[in-house]
Amino acid sequence: MRILVTGASGLLGLNLCLHLADDHHVFGVLHSQELYKPPFKTFACDLNNDHSLGSLIYKTRPDLLIHCAAMANVDACESQPEAAQRVNAELPGVLAALCKKKGIRFTHISTDAVFDGKMGDYTEEDNPNPLSVYARTKLEGERIVTAEYREAIVARVNFYGFSLSGHRSLAEFFLNNLKTGSPVNGFVDVMFCPLYVIDLVDTLMMMVSKELKGLYHVVSPESLSKYAFGVKIADKFGFDKNLIQPKSVTDGGLLAARSPRLTLKIDKLIAAEISPPGQTNCMEHFQRHYLEHLPEKIKTLSG
Ligand SMILES: NC(=O)c1ccc[n+]([C@@H]2O[C@H](COP(=O)([O-])OP(=O)(O)OC[C@H]3O[C@@H](n4cnc5c(N)ncnc54)[C@H](OP(=O)(O)O)[C@@H]3O)[C@@H](O)[C@H]2O)c1
Repeated sequence: MRILVTGASGLLGLNLCLHLADDHHVFGVLHSQELYKPPFKTFACDLNNDHSLGSLIYKTRPDLLIHCAAMANVDACESQPEAAQRVNAELPGVLAALCKKKGIRFTHISTDAVFDGKMGDYTEEDNPNPLSVYARTKLEGERIVTAEYREAIVARVNFYGFSLSGHRSLAEFFLNNLKTGSPVNGFVDVMFCPLYVIDLVDTLMMMVSKELKGLYHVVSPESLSKYAFGVKIADKFGFDKNLIQPKSVTDGGLLAARSPRLTLKIDKLIAAEISPPGQTNCMEHFQRHYLEHLPEKIKTLSG
């Protein structure tokens, strides 16, 4: 397949491009961050520029576009709401309309954070209630994509993995600090169902191959607190778990409001005979890639 991936320097986009490059023609869209000799073709482009979009599609002739680019920093969205609206809400609609017109399959990445996290165990039928600018603009993006292109996949995700900067994901935060013996806080009252990013990529590709369409929760069937997640990393990598202080999110001093119980049900995905892995398997894959020096390989791409 010819696959165009936006946000190819981001945590999800980069891992996706690297993982799929062996079996597919992958074209990664870069923005302000360059990559040094990546094993896939790249194009630099500001996706807010409509002219660039047309020429990108013309040059790459994709069968599938996976839209990973976003303003994904929750606090940056809070301080720049107009930019967040443009990138997270309006841009996905423009891409969806373009893909529909050209007959390109479209997978849009959204977030578990569209829910307020008061109830937990949300299905795709439950009403979202976004608490932050990030979550509100991402929800609007989902709705615009669905209205523009009914055949698109809209995936609400949560994931961790190794990033270009080395500190984009929560797993890297725990790993980096535990490795140097630095004490860290872990929230005991924030629950989530993250997938290791490569497990997420495999799940998304299964959804594409089964020609699913519409809104899906694409997370692990097992939830845990952010504190328990840190402890799991400490246990798996042999670090001292006592370095992780159990804390409440209300003590965290975060700018944008966070949703406490972001546990999502994945029955719809399972009904399509797709079963993403539980936490132990995800952590196993994460550690295996660490031992295979994936963080170092990713680091060399930053030049
Ligand atoms: N990380 C998580 O745990 C998480 C959880 C739930 C959902 N998600 C969703 O998953 C998706 C991927 O997130 P991520 O963590 O991989 O994000 P990320 O690491 O912050 O990467 C975002 C990417 O988007 C690109 N981008 C931003 N504005 C752009 C523009 N105008 N034109 C072209 N590219 C642009 C960035 O390029 P530059 O840096 O060069 O600008 C970067 O490559 C997003 O939709 C996010 O909402 C993430």
